[in-house]
Amino acid sequence: MIGLTSLTESGSTRNPMNTSDTSATPSPDGLGVGQSHAKVILLGEHAVVYGKPAIAFPVHTLRLDASAELSGDGWRVETPFHQGHVRPEAEPTDELERLLSVTALRNTLDFLGERPAGISVLVKGFIPPARGLGSSAAVAGAIAQAVAGAYGHTLTRQELFELIQSVERVAHGTPSGLDAYATTEPAPVWFEQGAAHPLQLSAWPRLLVADTGVTGRTSEAVSRVRERYERTQAVVEGLLDEAATLTHGAEHDLRVGDHEALGEKMNRNHVILRELGVSSRALDTLVESATRAGALGAKLTGGGMGGCMIALVDSETESQVRASVIAAGARDVWAVPDLEVQT
Ligand code: PMV
Repeated sequence: MIGLTSLTESGSTRNPMNTSDTSATPSPDGLGVGQSHAKVILLGEHAVVYGKPAIAFPVHTLRLDASAELSGDGWRVETPFHQGHVRPEAEPTDELERLLSVTALRNTLDFLGERPAGISVLVKGFIPPARGLGSSAAVAGAIAQAVAGAYGHTLTRQELFELIQSVERVAHGTPSGLDAYATTEPAPVWFEQGAAHPLQLSAWPRLLVADTGVTGRTSEAVSRVRERYERTQAVVEGLLDEAATLTHGAEHDLRVGDHEALGEKMNRNHVILRELGVSSRALDTLVESATRAGALGAKLTGGGMGGCMIALVDSETESQVRASVIAAGARDVWAVPDLEVQT
């Protein structure tokens, strides 16, 4: 049985800078650390923006470790996506990634009421950006914990949530808050209307996460659904309601361990997301190849319009499904959970 011991309720949108007296005294060595990981949404993305529930799982194999040190002159941030103020030429997301890291550093310092002469933040590890895996929230979460730690302050769950949200608003405008929890909680979460709850699982479902290698922008996907909602409200409301019913059913399937029923719900959720206009040819191809190879269910995960899909597998189908999505063009495949967290 898997469960979280505590998750704080939060629907607040208040500014993290106004939250509390943080008594920010540098830690004795001026050093702090932070951790986060990728996440996948099992069911409910996009619907969650409209107050419906969603279920997310951690991807511990894709993790970030941040350290912050109060020293030197000036502020420096080094992450897998960029170094200091140097602009690498590779990904089209570089500029945004840089903005996000700097915003995470600045907002955490504002929250602490600090303006250090010198601070150096280093983030190690990698989560492919703009693939629906929560990389922006994970970067923000790891940096916020490390910077607060350098001042001897351990962020509460609520403080961390709000700091990540303040950065996520830069990344995609109106984030539901799901990523802010799911990238800093080690166990699966149920998320609805700004509040997260633990999930009970009778057995951890085995998921393969396959990357199309195509970057998708969550903010564009969210706007696309919003436009569709404004044009054909009744149709979109029907789809969002159905997604919510699937997510409620999935919570039951996870509790009793009915992974066949769960897989069917994932398949249907993918069709809904396609009808909402956020799938892509590459995603549909990977979903079809996983299903043909015997996956119990498959769907896009996260914002869509590129990014990743997930397939629900078992010990008999896992290797076939993995081979099939790779043959169909998947750039990378990760398994969830990794052995460390399997119960
Ligand atoms: O693409 P990601 O990892 O940022 O996930 C986005 C999930 C959405 O439901 C589409 C947006 C949100 O804010 O929850």
